[in-house]
Amino acid sequence: MPLTHTRELFTKALKGKYALGAFNVNNMELLQAIIEACEEEKAPVMLQISKGARQYANPVYLKKLIEAAVSLSTIPIAVHLDHGDTFELCKECIDEGFTSVMIDASHEPFEKNVEITKKVVEYAHKHNCVVESELGHLVGAQFDEGEEGGAHSTSGHYTEPDEAVKFVKETGCDSLAVAIGNSHGAYKFKGEQHLDLERLKLIKKALMDAGMGDYPLVLHGASSVPKDLAVEINKYGGKMGEDTAGVPESDIEIARRTGCTKVNIDTDLRLAMTAAIRKVFFENPKEFDPRKYLGPARAKVKELVRHKIKDVLCCAGHAFD
Ligand code: G3H
Ligand code: 13P
Ligand code: ZN
Repeated sequence: MPLTHTRELFTKALKGKYALGAFNVNNMELLQAIIEACEEEKAPVMLQISKGARQYANPVYLKKLIEAAVSLSTIPIAVHLDHGDTFELCKECIDEGFTSVMIDASHEPFEKNVEITKKVVEYAHKHNCVVESELGHLVGAQFDEGEEGGAHSTSGHYTEPDEAVKFVKETGCDSLAVAIGNSHGAYKFKGEQHLDLERLKLIKKALMDAGMGDYPLVLHGASSVPKDLAVEINKYGGKMGEDTAGVPESDIEIARRTGCTKVNIDTDLRLAMTAAIRKVFFENPKEFDPRKYLGPARAKVKELVRHKIKDVLCCAGHAFD
């Protein structure tokens, strides 16, 4: 089975009122965990690859791993560039056959963001690729902090509904990542642990009223950062801070019902993997066979993905709609 187009996944998700899990892939074990959970639960899935993942694993390895996953499974799988920071990177991924790319110029002023996004949309649409862009500014790492081209912000800027309409109209982007109090990583909230879901409703309504229909919105930073994982990591020698905080899953459910069609999750996978690996090393310091710690890590990520797609995103059972 070939890749399934992101456009098709979006259309079905909007119709079925569920959200697609967009899970980050950096290596074989993460990919297998995601695909096995989605295959068993019959869920469509978006695999997303960041610039950092491409630097870490090499684009060709990732492409071949995904080809293997696609050929060994029956579910619809789309491949997406996460936080593309330049036209050139987006073009590279479009040329490699990604079904969608994100251009993230959200740190730029509005007009510059429009200009860069428009350029990507123009190229992408000529090559049958879907474009996600971001308006507003998430707190924290926008992409690869520390890597070349990375950006980090300590002050967020929420997406304004009227600007969202203007942005989508001017750029022609196919989906929009919103800033509604969300952020990346394991330390998302200092005070009250909630998204501005009222604002999300207003953005969705503004787009609808402007004639964009049921326009797909994207929620970045959607990890819930389960306390039990932080506790487990620390129990086995880790040092997660006291102040870990994620998006409550009840907020994600409301976001899904409000029209967040794509929900990005990476940090929770990292935590699950780390907890499992630490446990093996703590309980058996003599272990040095990678399969003995990467195997349990893969199993733990798989169960986490199963929980997300069944209980939070509600895309389980929708693979063959
Ligand atoms: O939003 C960022 C994702 O979690 C990807 O992170 O750039 O470290 O691969 P990364
Ligand atoms: P988390 O850090 O909350 O998992 O967010 C991931 C993400 O937005 C990837 O683009
Ligand atoms: Zn993100």
